[in-house]
Amino acid sequence: MGLFAWTVCFALGCVTVQESYPVSSVSKSVCPQNAKVAVLGASGGIGQPLSLLLKNMPKVSHLSLYDIANTPGVAADLSHIETRAKVTGHQGPDQLQDCVKGADLVLIPAGVPRKPGMTRDDLFNTNASIVRDLVTACAQGCPNAVIGIITNPVNSTVPIAAEVLKKAGVYDKQKLAGVTSLDVVRSNTFVAEAKGLEVAKVDVPVIGGHSGITIIPLLSQANPSVSFPEEERERLTKRIQNAGTEVVEAKAGAGSATLSMAYAAARFADKMLEALDGGEGQVECAYVESTETEAKYFATPILLGKKGLEKNLGCGKLIDYEVKLLKEAMDELNSNIKKGEDFVNK
Ligand SMILES: NC(=O)c1ccc[n+]([C@@H]2O[C@H](COP(=O)([O-])OP(=O)(O)OC[C@H]3O[C@@H](n4cnc5c(N)ncnc54)[C@H](O)[C@@H]3O)[C@@H](O)[C@H]2O)c1
Repeated sequence: MGLFAWTVCFALGCVTVQESYPVSSVSKSVCPQNAKVAVLGASGGIGQPLSLLLKNMPKVSHLSLYDIANTPGVAADLSHIETRAKVTGHQGPDQLQDCVKGADLVLIPAGVPRKPGMTRDDLFNTNASIVRDLVTACAQGCPNAVIGIITNPVNSTVPIAAEVLKKAGVYDKQKLAGVTSLDVVRSNTFVAEAKGLEVAKVDVPVIGGHSGITIIPLLSQANPSVSFPEEERERLTKRIQNAGTEVVEAKAGAGSATLSMAYAAARFADKMLEALDGGEGQVECAYVESTETEAKYFATPILLGKKGLEKNLGCGKLIDYEVKLLKEAMDELNSNIKKGEDFVNK
């Protein structure tokens, strides 16, 4: 089911459909599963709109919200919405286990965002320990959950999460991803604008990592196929790589992308829940443990399935310009990954 199909499904009344037909005639995508989804950092700029979008998904039966501040208010507010998900709010480390216990999907947008002039790596010192501690709780309370890391620097926070899960003996590379969907969402939007296409029908894979030059949009593999003169391709590529900074500067000190990020994370969650429920053909770019390049973690299109991030679909055929971008990204990506691993292991 597509991102907004659940809205249509809900408007048509999934529950009514279930009640008026024999169970055997109800297709899986119409029959909502009972997913517990936890959002860690739920009171923040991303956490709140993301929680709202999740509250509107019929597959979510329990929306479990955690933050160090303001969670009771956010949970009370969302709990009045007339959709099926039960909402619980959990505040402070004492309530973290309750929040994550038995979750099927955990989304982590906890941590500080960028201010103008900062790189994502500048967030490392604050956000590394936040991710480490939250994932430690997941290892204990929901070792089988799919975990989507939103907290920056994603290039490093995913390796941090992996090392924590390994130490706890519960690491499964099919269950851990850095959420890079926003890079795809931005690429789709910018390409559709540039070519006058219907944006809902545009799909641009984005590989690599999630910061500056490590973001590699594969314009040559856009669907539908598009071509750009060299200069325009370069300009568009740079705009996609710096799109986060465009928002940081426009917000002028009030944070980074929140609404578009919430949309992107909801897109990731919607596809993942559909796949976990047996829905086929769900593909999303995500930053995962990978053997596609020399970088140990690398984003590529991934086929999602009942086990999570089931099959790496690889980089496809790159044109020379994209090979050059890939080479330029490698040093930074590898050093970001090492920094994350060292943080846990040293
Ligand atoms: N992956 C991406 O594409 C992407 C895009 C945009 C932003 N981000 C990142 O997402 C993160 C959150 O951004 P935001 O704009 O929502 O920030 P924000 O400051 O608005 O919200 C962060 C929330 O995290 C909470 N928090 C802090 N420490 C916590 C802890 N130990 N446990 C639980 N919650 C904690 C805060 O109380 C706050 O509510 C940032 O690191 C930002 O860089 C990622």
